[in-house]
Amino acid sequence: MISFSYVCSLFAIFLVVLAKNKEKDHHKGICDTVFFEKWEETLASTNNYQCGPSKPRSFTFSNLYRGNDEKKTPESIIQPWAVVLHRCKSAGCCAYGYHCAPATQKMITIVFKINERESRYVEVEAKNETSCSCQLDNEIH
Ligand SMILES: *[C@@H]1O[C@H](CO)[C@@H](O)[C@H](O)[C@H]1NC(C)=O
Repeated sequence: MISFSYVCSLFAIFLVVLAKNKEKDHHKGICDTVFFEKWEETLASTNNYQCGPSKPRSFTFSNLYRGNDEKKTPESIIQPWAVVLHRCKSAGCCAYGYHCAPATQKMITIVFKINERESRYVEVEAKNETSCSCQLDNEIH
């Protein structure tokens, strides 16, 4: 009889441990499903944002102007304050070892107006990246 109750209590402990493990597995299962669904969403947004078209970015006059004579021009008197040009940097996803870089680009002329006592116009040459492609990362870092 002693041995029977001993075996019985051992069996009961075994059942409790089994139940606890099942509960754990169940939780793990739910978490994996949630993570998997989130991961699939991430993957889908990566695949939907491929490098190809360049993206509009804003630039101020001083971002673009390389000359000396306008260096001290207060930005408050320049119109427009910012212009839009297209860029490839981070404009789309590439495979490991590649980055999004210009495939085609075009120099364009932008005219700014400087509103001094007498307004004048200043021409600035700037690069517009018109399309992008995935290009091999530079081996030199
Ligand atoms: C720059 O290139 C893009 C893409 O080709 C084009 O949509 C945009 O009009 C261009 N911007 C200018 C200022 O030429």
